[in-house]
Amino acid sequence: MSNNLLKGKRGIIFGALNEQSIAWKVAERCHEEGAQFVLTNAPIAMRMGEINQLAEKTGTKIIPADATSVEDLDNLIAQSTNHLGGKLDFVLHSIGMSLNVRKGKHYTENDYKFYQQTMDVSAISLHKTLASLYKTDALNEWASVVALTYIAAQRIFPDYNDMADAKSLLESITRSFGYHYGIKNKVRVNTISQSPTVTTAGQGIKGFYEFINFSEKMSPLGNASALACADYCIAMFSDLTRYVTMQNLFHDGGFSNTGVTQSVIEKFGE
Ligand SMILES: NC(=O)c1ccc[n+]([C@@H]2O[C@H](COP(=O)([O-])OP(=O)(O)OC[C@H]3O[C@@H](n4cnc5c(N)ncnc54)[C@H](O)[C@@H]3O)[C@@H](O)[C@H]2O)c1
Repeated sequence: MSNNLLKGKRGIIFGALNEQSIAWKVAERCHEEGAQFVLTNAPIAMRMGEINQLAEKTGTKIIPADATSVEDLDNLIAQSTNHLGGKLDFVLHSIGMSLNVRKGKHYTENDYKFYQQTMDVSAISLHKTLASLYKTDALNEWASVVALTYIAAQRIFPDYNDMADAKSLLESITRSFGYHYGIKNKVRVNTISQSPTVTTAGQGIKGFYEFINFSEKMSPLGNASALACADYCIAMFSDLTRYVTMQNLFHDGGFSNTGVTQSVIEKFGE
């Protein structure tokens, strides 16, 4: 399905690791909608090489960048505007990683080096990206920046661990930078709070499969897929959502406003 919603728009997509990645689906949909863009990921993540297939399929260039490095980000933005032939209209931040989660460190016993890394990779990287775009004036008016988040920023999901704190910070940066960038040149900054989705990052969370089934039953529309999330990102990058900024937008089949569902109640009657 293509409606040329992004025809003539240029962007950067962070975080496509493999075919399951939400960013991968966003890149495919951006291509279908007529956008030109650059793909980026941490140099270490490129070793798998799968991103090359996506670049080939979408006719895009890959520029590696560690999103915690201001130097890498400055270089990425300079190279991207140069390669794409002008300022940018959209950016997808689809980055998350916690060593406390990976190494199974309980929240009450978090390693603080890991904790700081979680914040840097999963949240402060958005601030660094926005700051780099801001100081180089690399975004057009009405450009749209979207970062992906999860409802653990608002409510406790114990196994989400320190990623919950990172998502809270990510959503706060979205509001704060959204204010300053809106004033500067009408740039929009939002987070999309996505249903649990089977991806490399998602599967790292303890009890993920049980949880995804619970979430499915707790959402009147069911869990939103990665492709549906990509469609929402397209809407947010398009000119049809120009006055949406500084928001956390739930894309979760109704989960966030549901107290309980009949099918969850029935489980307890078994
Ligand atoms: N999968 C889910 O259930 C779910 C739900 C809600 C939100 N999200 C969010 O969606 C986003 C994308 O995750 P995903 O589920 O597609 O998983 P994914 O594992 O495919 O993507 C995570 C990406 O982060 C990249 N990354 C890690 N460290 C980096 C660094 N230093 N610099 C640059 N990139 C780095 C990884 O290489 C990877 O491409 C994350 O922010 C995640 O928290 C995921």
